[in-house]
Amino acid sequence: MNILGIETSCDDTAISIVKDGQSIKSNIIASQVHMHEKYGGIIPEIASREHFLTIIPTINESLYESGLTHKEIDCIAVTNGPGLAGSLLVGVNAAKGLGLAWDKPVMPINHLEGHIYSGWLDNKNPDKEVGFPLICLIASGGHTEMVLMKNHLTYEIIGKTRDDAAGEAFDKTARVLRLGFPGGPEIQKEAESANGNLDPFPRPEIKDSLDFSLSGLKTAVVNRAIKENIYPHTDFNAPNNEIVSEYSFAFQEAIVDTLIRNISRALKNFEAKGVLLGGGVAANSRLREKMAQNLDIPLIAPKPYLCTDNGAMIASAAYYRIKQYGTSPTFDMDVVPNLKLH
Ligand code: KG4
Ligand code: ZN
Repeated sequence: MNILGIETSCDDTAISIVKDGQSIKSNIIASQVHMHEKYGGIIPEIASREHFLTIIPTINESLYESGLTHKEIDCIAVTNGPGLAGSLLVGVNAAKGLGLAWDKPVMPINHLEGHIYSGWLDNKNPDKEVGFPLICLIASGGHTEMVLMKNHLTYEIIGKTRDDAAGEAFDKTARVLRLGFPGGPEIQKEAESANGNLDPFPRPEIKDSLDFSLSGLKTAVVNRAIKENIYPHTDFNAPNNEIVSEYSFAFQEAIVDTLIRNISRALKNFEAKGVLLGGGVAANSRLREKMAQNLDIPLIAPKPYLCTDNGAMIASAAYYRIKQYGTSPTFDMDVVPNLKLH
């Protein structure tokens, strides 16, 4: 079964074709990062306008790369939430239009479920190789959630952020350090050349809870930067390369340790067969390395390019939904910007 996956919930127009939920036939991402980087974050109006311009060429390119014609596509899967309303609308309306024109079923998919199913891509099979239940950490620019996945498509949220998402903390800290956007990859790169000699930043915790509170970590970075006169930025106080590397390292260690600590706590409360990582922050090499060292059960960490937003994860989630519930023509679906994972 070939599924076309459409993902436009944020700033990437991402279109993939996936066979049987696991085998990626094409994976095209039209990034808008150059449009947003000068603002240090995503401007929703610009994002939806760019999706509108790029979605049809990106779908065409994805079909071309797969070597398939639209007649060989069995279903169109599209993210209908959570995300930016204007961005979601472009993807959902494109999916509906193509569904009508090609006479194919259209399936709405939750973006967070997509991030979980990136673990099944690339011919991986966590349900057979590891088994359920899995504890999933979805950490992205908009979300930080721990999910107990009891079976295919069956979830319980066991912990979430009460303020900033992990990716947001990376992005905001990068701004304090005058690094580019998105901040996660920049901080990771800077941290590689650090000596690790800065005093550690706190590992924020909410007592007796699996929830996260990450905004205090960013505040700790800001407060120290103000004290050391490298923030707010003026023309005369730009932090030098060494300071940027050391701050990046200390911040990355703090956030990675915080995420791992809550996973360890969750593993004490729930008997899980494995831990699955998803979302842009799961691309972080230090998180992957330290998490693997800390676990005595298998770690499922999709390749970094499958952790950040992509259409393949949406197609994969749709495959498992179709296997369980079949397809039905759902042309009356709408976008749900604050869609929850059930
Ligand atoms: O999942 P994603 O592509 O989009 C959302 O759904 O938000 O995640 C984007 C987020 C950004 O905040 C970005 O800074 C972060 O993921 N990110 C990383 C890395 N790559 C992307 N954070 C830490 N380390 C990385 N290597
Ligand atoms: Zn995402």
